[in-house]
Amino acid sequence: MNTQDFFTIDDIAKTLRVTRQTVAKFIKDKKLNAIKMNKSYRVHNEDFETFINQNITVAETKPIYYKKSRNCFLEYENKSDIKETLYSSQNSRIEKVEINHAKEYNKFIFGDNLLVLKQILNDIINKVDLIYIDPPFGTGQEFSNMDRDLAYSDNLVNHQFLDFLRKRLILLKECLSEKGSIYLHIDKKIGHYVKIIMDEIFGYENFLNDITRLKCNPKNFARNAYGNYSDMILFYAKKRDYNIWNEIKEPLSEKEIEKFFQKTHPKLGRYTTNPLHAPGETLNGDTGKEWNGLMPPKGRHWRYSRQELSMLELQGLVEWSETGNPRKKVFAKDHKGKKIQDVWEFKDRGMSYVSYPTEKNQDMLKRIILNSSNENSLVLDCFAGSGSTLIMADKLKRKWIGIDSSIKSLEIVKKNFKEHNIFCNYYSILALD
Ligand SMILES: C[S@@+](CC[C@H](N)C(=O)[O-])C[C@H]1O[C@@H](n2cnc3c(N)ncnc32)[C@H](O)[C@@H]1O
Repeated sequence: MNTQDFFTIDDIAKTLRVTRQTVAKFIKDKKLNAIKMNKSYRVHNEDFETFINQNITVAETKPIYYKKSRNCFLEYENKSDIKETLYSSQNSRIEKVEINHAKEYNKFIFGDNLLVLKQILNDIINKVDLIYIDPPFGTGQEFSNMDRDLAYSDNLVNHQFLDFLRKRLILLKECLSEKGSIYLHIDKKIGHYVKIIMDEIFGYENFLNDITRLKCNPKNFARNAYGNYSDMILFYAKKRDYNIWNEIKEPLSEKEIEKFFQKTHPKLGRYTTNPLHAPGETLNGDTGKEWNGLMPPKGRHWRYSRQELSMLELQGLVEWSETGNPRKKVFAKDHKGKKIQDVWEFKDRGMSYVSYPTEKNQDMLKRIILNSSNENSLVLDCFAGSGSTLIMADKLKRKWIGIDSSIKSLEIVKKNFKEHNIFCNYYSILALD
């Protein structure tokens, strides 16, 4: 079995049900092979597996280990190796091009993101809270703007495209902080293969959502098939349950407000009413006593103390039904919004309205950034295109790094940043071989 992944010391301690000190001793005694990465040790899956197989004393943990690593794997020719991708050396240098501020981040690096990521990995390892990427989709097409200026060529297809992505994902995983997460935007032709690659790299157990994004108006295709008006966003945590999650809510639609709040108050707008009592009897407490000449119905208790009930009445928030039942007025304007589900409608603007051919919807990026990062978090987009992620990250007071290898992208990013009054330091990678 080859899960091609790394474990932290904590992961191993948890899996083996031993202390971190015991794991450290295994490493010190050279029983367990570990690699030092930015001050902390990591153990490759294969090394961990060898260790488990050689140590009879921990044999009972084998099932736990195998359960944890039960991913599916995609086999294809010349599949890149994780260690090789992480540790192969390269001869390149990052050069300053234009410095506009003194901050550490908020920078755009022009060049191939594989070279750039390898070069900056040590500086950002475990530091990035949010990655959003929208790579080419392996379509074999060229993408130009309305003026027919070429933006970029998406010329890697099939397994070559998958391996191109795999190499970048291997490096991106290392950049993520313990509370970090990654969103990968892809189409539905190749996206299911990408899911398997991401399961391998980030771990099946860290998969959070496959978000269906409605990208345009319904299409009227001639072919014998359903219209295709959605793409997908694969969402993974570096470590499930530890990822930043701000639970941003979605406001109710007009239709939902009309449906759930059928009455109208002349000043406060739409409202509905809820019972002031709830199931369960209070035997001796205040909520079981008479209020306004009324006892709670049998088997129920008042939801509020009698003092609070009187206060609600004073504020005009109690409505009496025809049968003499008090109910609390609940206003649509006070509704906190609803839980966001995994189908999103964020249509992209048409070609004639955007400066870059595959520019993504800013409101969609806003949702992602608000939910999965905090103010001052570091956000990374290494397929930056028009800089849409970076612009939104900046607006929301996040730190950011953008990378792209297209001259057109660099040109549009500069233009967009100027329009949005965003200060950016520009760099470029120089391959020295
Ligand atoms: C689909 S576009 C991204 C669009 C972007 N999300 C936006 O909203 O404008 C993909 C981008 O990836 C860039 N790209 C492709 N291969 C790259 C590579 N090896 N290194 C860096 N950027 C690359 C392309 O130049 C292109 O700008």
